[in-house]
Parts: sequence; structure tokens; C-alpha cells
Amino acid sequence: MRVLVTGGAGYIGSTAVAILQERGYGVTVLDDCSTGHFESVASSARFITGSILDSKAVAEALTDCGAVIHFAAKSIVGESVEKPDLYHEVNVNGTRNLLSEMARLGVVKLVFSSTAATYGEPEVIPITEESPTKPTSPYGTTKLAVDQMITAESETGLAAISLRYFNVAGAFNSKSGWIAERHNPETHLIPNLLRASAANPLKVFGKDWPTADGTCIRDYVHVVDLIEAHILALENLEPGKHEIINLGSGGGYSVSQVIDAAAKVVGHEIPTQITARRAGDPAVLIADISKAKKVLGWTPTRNIEDMVGDTWKSQNAFASK
Ligand SMILES: NC(=O)c1ccc[n+]([C@@H]2O[C@H](COP(=O)([O-])OP(=O)(O)OC[C@H]3O[C@@H](n4cnc5c(N)ncnc54)[C@H](O)[C@@H]3O)[C@@H](O)[C@H]2O)c1
Repeated sequence: MRVLVTGGAGYIGSTAVAILQERGYGVTVLDDCSTGHFESVASSARFITGSILDSKAVAEALTDCGAVIHFAAKSIVGESVEKPDLYHEVNVNGTRNLLSEMARLGVVKLVFSSTAATYGEPEVIPITEESPTKPTSPYGTTKLAVDQMITAESETGLAAISLRYFNVAGAFNSKSGWIAERHNPETHLIPNLLRASAANPLKVFGKDWPTADGTCIRDYVHVVDLIEAHILALENLEPGKHEIINLGSGGGYSVSQVIDAAAKVVGHEIPTQITARRAGDPAVLIADISKAKKVLGWTPTRNIEDMVGDTWKSQNAFASK
């Protein structure tokens, strides 16, 4: 089967493209390269440079595809507060356009990148798929709107799974080299702490949280484990059904624990600077992943050392190019 991967030039999308190709899937990528990198995609994939907002580009990209994995989005929480209209346009209207072209052309299988940001500040930990959805950012609001749009579309036959990721990390050593996180600006902890220096220390947002070591706890999932779940999702789609499934490790690491893991990998202390808490940051975010285990038969196998170690190896590989 040929799969359309929207956002296939991005961090997670390009990892998906490489793993899908290694598993024998044909892959078409639709990406406007606004935050992704054309060179992250092997030339054996069909690449359409264009936006999910452009019906013609979407229709061209859907040619011969039996399913879509939809990663294309704007996904920086802080930016979404500054530019809510952009986030609504790309994430909501872009997905509406994609869904309408899929319906018109009879493509009825969809796996969607949703996010833990749809839940907002949790009342109960771990977070299940039944937890209340109260996003605290325009980013989370747009992703929740898309989940709701997909539920409505499934009532007319679409087979869909929304995967709600927690914090994705790590890198993939593909047959053609490392595929890594290359966001600009980079807002994620692991790539940033590996680049920290005395002149540019890692900012730790608060050490006075109600956790054992005072730093926030987050749930990290390795990008390769995450893509395994997408492939399982693709293989478990049912017509007329929309499942929403959390993807994390089911356990949390504090910021200090991630810093300690990184210090072991790089062989020296990570320079840090404690700053004030960020508004809207919950103390603890941990996923309940029992539904992913039950419905998809998925269990993540890589730990925080793997995530930090693979990110480190991939950064070194890019630095030496
Ligand atoms: N990285 C994480 O920890 C995380 C967590 C939860 C959810 N997600 C979701 O996963 C998906 C991928 O995230 P990522 O970290 O790889 O981000 P990314 O920015 O690296 O990838 C997004 C890709 O979408 C493309 N894109 C953006 N607007 C587009 C448009 N209008 N038309 C076509 N392509 C467009 C970008 O060029 C980029 O290649 C996003 O939907 C994001 O919301 C990511």
C-alpha cells in the first residue's frame, strides 16, 4: 500500500517515512517545508512540495494512496499564543481540506497526530483518553477541534485513529543516516540540553514544583517506538470508527532526571540555570498507555537513556557533516 505522509519532512514525519519504506510501504510526502527539511526525505519517496491548504496539491499527493498519516501542523505552544489565527488556518482548515479531498477521492484510512496538549492541566494522573479535554493553548485547542472533526467524519465511513503523543524524543539511524529533531527554534528539552554550554546554560523553569526533586515531570516516548505505534494503527483501522489513543511511556522523568541521564551520555555536567516557572506548565504529565497496549498491542521498548543517547549521536552526525 502507498501511504500519504503529510508533514513528512518534519522530525516525526521523516522518521515515519524512513521506517515505512523499510517496511515495504510506498510513500508519498506532502510538505510545504515551512518547518521541515526536504533533504530529510529519501529520494525514493514521492515528494509533493505544497500545503495541506491547497486542494490541488492534496489531490495530487493522494494519487494511488490507500491511507494517510497526517503529521503536517504548526506545533509550537508559545507561537500558537502569539499567532492563533495561523494555527487555526493550518491545523483546522488544513485538516478540513485534507479530509474533504480524501472523501472526494475515496481514501478512507487516516492516522492523525494529536497531542497531550488537548487535555490541558490534568485533574488526575495518569491521563487516560477519558480525561477531560481542556486545552490551555490555541495549539491544543486546534488539535482537539481536529479530533472532533475526525469523529464526525468517521460517522460517514472514515476509519481513523488519533494518537495523542506526550513528549517525543530520540532519533532514528536509518539506512541513509540519522534522522533527527531539527526544529528552529528548538523548544524541546533533550536536544536543547545536549547543546547547553556555560555561555548558554539550559533554562530549568522552576525548582519549586511539588515533585520529589522540585522539577516538572513529563512522559517521554522514543520516536521509533512512536512510529511503531503508527504502523500498528494503520493496520488496525476499522471503517466508521475513530479511536483516540495516548502514546507515551506510561512513566515520567523529572527535568533533573533527564539532565542526569544526559550528563552520563556526554560525560560531563550539563550547565543549567534555574529560572521562574512558565505560566500554564503543569507539575506532572504522565500518560496512561493501557489503551495503546490493548487496542494496538503496542509497548514502548526504549528508555530515557536511549532517547538522550540517540539524540546525542544524531547531533554529532549532523555536526560532522
Ligand atoms: N514533537 C512532539 O513532541 C509532538 C508532541 C505531540 C504532537 N506532535 C505532533 O506531531 C506532528 C509532527 O511534529 P514534529 O515535531 O515532527 O513537527 P515538525 O514541525 O518537525 O513537522 C511538521 C511538518 O509539517 C509541515 N507543515 C507545516 N504546515 C504545513 C502545511 N500547511 N502544509 C504542508 N506541510 C506543512 C512542516 O514543514 C513540517 O515538515 C505535529 O502534528 C505535532 O503537532 C508532536
